[in-house]
Amino acid sequence: MKLFIDTANLEEIREAASWGLIEGVTTNPSLLAKELGKAGAPVRFEEVIHEICRLIDGPVSAEVTSEQAPAMVEEARRLAAIHEHVVVKIPMTLEGLKAVGRLSAEGIRTNVTLVFSPTQALLAAKAGASYVSPFVGRIDDRSGDGMELVAQILQIFDNYGFPTEVIVASVRHPRHVLEAALLGAEIATVPYAVLRALFAHPLTDLGLEGFRADWERANRPG
Ligand code: G3P
Repeated sequence: MKLFIDTANLEEIREAASWGLIEGVTTNPSLLAKELGKAGAPVRFEEVIHEICRLIDGPVSAEVTSEQAPAMVEEARRLAAIHEHVVVKIPMTLEGLKAVGRLSAEGIRTNVTLVFSPTQALLAAKAGASYVSPFVGRIDDRSGDGMELVAQILQIFDNYGFPTEVIVASVRHPRHVLEAALLGAEIATVPYAVLRALFAHPLTDLGLEGFRADWERANRPG
């Protein structure tokens, strides 16, 4: 399973890139809005996207904000021209799917976002989306079952051999990452704090402490 980082924060992306484990980035207008105008950060969102593409050698999702298909297509072309890593995020609406069809015919990769039902994912795949992003956390927040949605989408894509990849998004905790991996989802896009939590286990720390103490005792002079 590929791990993407779900952020537009350049410091987090720089640090995550240094681990050598992160294969892509997802952003959205809310994540970008948090970063623009920060001291030392680029002022234009195109510059942020370009810098992210420089830092990570993999797909970088940048989202359109237009609502009608022709405007989405125009905007998507501009986003795709920023860097070859850019994948254009398109919201799961009827207009969005019209745009996905046109962009897919032009060879522009798309990530259909805000997916909350298996039939939405089916339509996105039929339109030619490269990726779909089911938002598992937001479903769980409303006492639904986000991972059940992922399982259904994977089953549908497998039934018909759709090449569309599933990006498990709106990840809240390591258990979402575990369940995504158990289901065989191609990708999980994970916030920085949750990525950090994946490394940690108290028994690893305790074990290491024990090894160090034993080694020092054995090597103490006299
Ligand atoms: O990748 C989509 C993600 O950014 C949405 O996450 O936490 O706003 O539900 P969240």
